[in-house]
Amino acid sequence: MNSVSQSKLLVEPIAGALGAEVGNVDLSNVNQTVINEIRAAFTRYHVLVFRDQSLSPKAQKEFAKYFGPLETHPYIQGLQTDPEVVAIIKEPDETVNFGGGWHSDMSFLPTPPLGSVLYALEVPHSGGDTLFSNQHSAYMELSDTMKEIVNDLTAVHSAASQYGRGGDSDKYKTERGSMNLQVSDDAHQLVEHPVVRTHPDSKLRALYVNRPFTESIKGMTPAESKALLGFLHRHCEQERFTCRVRWEVGTVTMWDNRIVQHYALNDYQGQRRHMNRVTIEGDAPR
Ligand code: SIN
Repeated sequence: MNSVSQSKLLVEPIAGALGAEVGNVDLSNVNQTVINEIRAAFTRYHVLVFRDQSLSPKAQKEFAKYFGPLETHPYIQGLQTDPEVVAIIKEPDETVNFGGGWHSDMSFLPTPPLGSVLYALEVPHSGGDTLFSNQHSAYMELSDTMKEIVNDLTAVHSAASQYGRGGDSDKYKTERGSMNLQVSDDAHQLVEHPVVRTHPDSKLRALYVNRPFTESIKGMTPAESKALLGFLHRHCEQERFTCRVRWEVGTVTMWDNRIVQHYALNDYQGQRRHMNRVTIEGDAPR
């Protein structure tokens, strides 16, 4: 990908697969022209990184709202003053982080999020990067035969492995205590989505299965489903589909949940990391 200079923003790709740094913008003071340019870069690069920002929870919400209404997370309590803002915190004495594996946010919902805007308030000296993987590229690199197999399949998703009884939130409540993740019987509800979804704006097709939330493929035996999902997960997570965001205090990253998976690395034991996340509502995958 080449770097693209637009009228105001400076957009510089950070990897071959996806992701760009966007300069010359103050996210607390944008207008519709700037938003249109950000939207165009977002559609093209799927992950945008903005450095040296200063966002109160309200300003972060105001920026995110340009892209759609905001979600409140069904199993994580947001800030008291701003329930749509979730504080993602790992304290120095905690060992398990939030989002520490490849996933697509909240694919257990009938209408999973469009994307999220994550703002770094406190970062470790080293470590704590976030990886992103381009699920359109992953789809395109399947053989034609495998594309035909997955094109019309439906997957079953739920939040059980994270927020159900005996799920990660239950198992790791002390190691991940500051997040106060809830455990609920509702998390066992099943939701169906296509295995391959079409992005509503770009019309790009992308794989839409992920390890924590995709339970099975509809109509397959458990063994068939496990084998196919295992292959797809390993395929989606290959390095050539990824970019890596190194955080600084004041970095904001927004990602398109409809076409990327992400992974928050947990390689900074003994240090504090604090992000504020705002999530934008999406529509039903099709
Ligand atoms: C997440 O939204 O999964 C967490 C991302 C991060 O903390 O880097």
